[in-house]
Amino acid sequence: MDDDTSDEAFTELRSRNLGGWGVAQIAVGTGLAVYAMWVGILQPGFRKVPLRLQVPYIPASKAQVQNVMTLLRGRKGDLVDLGSGDGRIVLEAYRHGFSPAVGYELNPWLVRLARFHAWRAGHHGKVSYRREDLWKVDLTKCKNITVFLAPSVLPLLQDKLKAELSDDALVVAGRFPLPDWSPCRVEGRGVDRAWAYNIQEQRTHTRQRDNSVVATGSDADNKVIPENIS
Ligand SMILES: C[S@@+](CC[C@H](N)C(=O)[O-])C[C@H]1O[C@@H](n2cnc3c(N)ncnc32)[C@H](O)[C@@H]1O
Repeated sequence: MDDDTSDEAFTELRSRNLGGWGVAQIAVGTGLAVYAMWVGILQPGFRKVPLRLQVPYIPASKAQVQNVMTLLRGRKGDLVDLGSGDGRIVLEAYRHGFSPAVGYELNPWLVRLARFHAWRAGHHGKVSYRREDLWKVDLTKCKNITVFLAPSVLPLLQDKLKAELSDDALVVAGRFPLPDWSPCRVEGRGVDRAWAYNIQEQRTHTRQRDNSVVATGSDADNKVIPENIS
């Protein structure tokens, strides 16, 4: 095709009116492509997970990983990352002496990528990445837990953690804090921030809060009714 012919073809394309049917075809095609990418590459393995519990993959920033490690300082033993993505938190935790260091991740591509990263770092066989649904993992024996999940699932996660973890466990949340818990320490700023939660302290806070509600009555009983000023 010479230059003149290609110019003509472009001019014809530009002047052609797509019409409603053409626009609809493009929209449906684009939608299908995005859906195929979501199901096939970004979220495979999530078919059995209810939509409201599906969390997309966003890797922790370098600063976020550092903040998580700072909050884990002084701790030892096992570490579990719930939703481990490409495995960076687990790998870094192993470098900081945590063992066994385990990541739970549903996306098989990310599990493979995490294993590759571990192999490349020379830690193959030292860390483990398991393709499992984090909501089904038994956490009763875990002492150090890290999470970086969407805010929408954190209330449910709090319930799971409180029900299963022992008093001496520590939870470190990256980027989004656990909504109803009081952190014992906070590290970093903005999107890199991380929060540490001591489970024993959470249980004490909850007991104190429950006791004060019982002692003072329900919120409705405590409502201040403004006097009639009319
Ligand atoms: C925001 S990313 C965090 C990745 C990694 N922890 C990090 O800090 O870089 C959340 C990860 O959780 C995974 N995930 C979401 N729901 C899950 C589930 N029910 N079971 C296992 N992994 C899950 C996602 O596939 C995603 O990789």
